[in-house]
Amino acid sequence: MKYGEAFKESLESPETFWGRAAEEITWYRKWTEVVDTSKMPFTSWFIGGLINTCYNAVDRHVEGGRGQQPALIYDSPVTNTTQIYTYSELQARVSRIAGFLSSLGVTKGDRVVIYMPMIPEAAMAMLACARIGAIHSVVFGGFAPRELAIRIDDAKPKVVLSASCGIEVKRIIPYKPLLDEAISIAEHTPEKCVVWQRPEAEAQLVAPRDLDWEEQEEEAQPVDCVPMESTDPLYILYTSGTTGVPKGVVRDNGGHAVALNWTMKHVYGIDAGDVFWAASDVGWVVGHSYIVYGPLLKGATTVLYEGKPVGTPDPGAFWRVISQHKVKVLFTAPTAFRAIKREDSGGEYLKGHDLSHFDALFLAGERTDPDTYHWATDLVRRPVIDHWWQTETGWAITGNFRGLEYFPPKAGSASLPMPGYDVRILDLATGEPLGPNREGIIAVTLPLPPGNLTTLWQNDEGFKESYTDPYPGYYFTGDAGFVDEDGYVWVMGRTDDVINVAGHRLSTGGMEEILARHPDVAECAVLGVQDDLKGQVPVGLVVLKSSAVRDHDELVGELVQMVRDQLGAIASFKKAVVVQRLPKTRSGKILRRTMRKIADGESYRVPPTIDDPAVLPEIEDAVQAMGYGKK
Ligand code: COA
Ligand code: AMP
Repeated sequence: MKYGEAFKESLESPETFWGRAAEEITWYRKWTEVVDTSKMPFTSWFIGGLINTCYNAVDRHVEGGRGQQPALIYDSPVTNTTQIYTYSELQARVSRIAGFLSSLGVTKGDRVVIYMPMIPEAAMAMLACARIGAIHSVVFGGFAPRELAIRIDDAKPKVVLSASCGIEVKRIIPYKPLLDEAISIAEHTPEKCVVWQRPEAEAQLVAPRDLDWEEQEEEAQPVDCVPMESTDPLYILYTSGTTGVPKGVVRDNGGHAVALNWTMKHVYGIDAGDVFWAASDVGWVVGHSYIVYGPLLKGATTVLYEGKPVGTPDPGAFWRVISQHKVKVLFTAPTAFRAIKREDSGGEYLKGHDLSHFDALFLAGERTDPDTYHWATDLVRRPVIDHWWQTETGWAITGNFRGLEYFPPKAGSASLPMPGYDVRILDLATGEPLGPNREGIIAVTLPLPPGNLTTLWQNDEGFKESYTDPYPGYYFTGDAGFVDEDGYVWVMGRTDDVINVAGHRLSTGGMEEILARHPDVAECAVLGVQDDLKGQVPVGLVVLKSSAVRDHDELVGELVQMVRDQLGAIASFKKAVVVQRLPKTRSGKILRRTMRKIADGESYRVPPTIDDPAVLPEIEDAVQAMGYGKK
């Protein structure tokens, strides 16, 4: 089937299109209805179907004769380890981990928080939860205790699974003290914390709450997969919204398995037995979908990489992994390639590596800027595909296809809508659909295809408010852009206060809440400014209380430390400046868009609603003092 036909069928007859895709998944009981749109804006997929996601990702491949095939390759330059787990070995570990979770009283519908570094046990933990129907919620290891506490309070896990430490290049980060602090901040107390001890830093376990993972696994009896309703939640993954309160994106079992399995072949060109590598982290959606579930559902081999694109040990790390493990497709964020380019612009480190198995490079997490696109294309001499998606969608909304039909790429565009996504550009103010080449907000006509979020965790109202109320009949993506005359989608940036720092999605509103807690801060604004390496980085503008007579450098140092301690180092919040006042409308709303343009050195229009235009030159001076704005 060609793209045009697939796209048309997916929108005109989703039952036929997705029903056929669902035949590739093993069901305990087949569904009676492919899609239920009677409770719009909520959509359910494969109603009546009974399924287990772990069975489909692990056991069925063992039963189907792939038991001796590598399922997961753990490649960790930071510990000098390469370890291969076959599907049989994965099944044995996962069923015992599921066994100890069961013996701790975890059953279907219970939540388990996973706060772990990039080690195989993190992926196994996710699969073990899926095996017994527990809902996992993985929290990225780079988040500080307060962020972890917020997620613990929302998900209310019975058990937390963690590890003694993470390793950031050469720096050891003990996780247990962070976990302990998070639990002391949180109102909800998990019954048990099970900790995987790593030799680089052992954690102190305090009975009766803390348990040693290895001991638990040794003593456990393996347990079998539990049949789940297709619509039962598989996981919750928190993502940043416009405020400091993260959104708990909920994914189902059936729709998720069907959609991800479909993408492996059609989008990425991956068959069972191929090697697929998503250089991300299990704490992000890319890690959920394409380190763990997607490749394993397909019966492919996934690479779990504990390292960086540079510094572990050099900018040749990616080429080494691709050639050593015969990787067919690499998926990462553009920032990783900018990091490699910065240290090895001539591609010297690529030389001598055998890329004969390598077919394509997929990029997402932020827009692939044309410079990075051209540099990467010239270097790898393979298709470089920018595809656009979000935590909420779970898989790409637009992109190009290695298994369906490959279209001529356009540098800077995220190519064409995926089957299932009826992408529309709407006027921000009126919601009217806009024609080709007119920029507006990007929306998707409801219903969304399978694999997308079904709701927000215990917050149906929040789901509607964030995604479907703004433009009735559509899913509101929060991104702005346009569709050109050939139907290519160009995603140009967010319409809200979400920023992307090195492919990590963060809320400037959340950082403002942290700065506002400083006793000397009267008000503040955090802006995402353009950064050559990370795409965007946040900077702060703060107004002090009149009582605050302070050394500004010292104060800025405290603010930087607060964001690091309360959100995490990944925010890369390193600069702030004290200003006398912030630009506001006459009704008192802070003019963030105008400040953002000033910070990026773009021309701007003085908003007609501004209270006092004289403040704008002051802001220009302030951002220049931080090294941004007009050069
Ligand atoms: N646990 C604890 N701290 C972490 C962490 C983790 N899991 N991940 C990152 N950090 C820390 C880093 O050590 C760094 O701390 P520092 O300020 O003390 O140096 C800080 O958070 C910022 O980390 P990072 O964003 O990784 O920046 P970097 O400067 O160390 O590296 C890149 C820059 C581009 C190499 C890196 O961001 C990268 O590899 N990005 C790939 C993008 C990616 O995986 N995106 C996921 C979505 S696809
Ligand atoms: P996350 O939920 O962390 O995956 O972040 C999703 C957001 O990242 C999107 O809403 C976009 O703003 C941005 N994003 C992801 N991929 C792309 C892309 N290929 N092009 C442009 N923006 C992207």
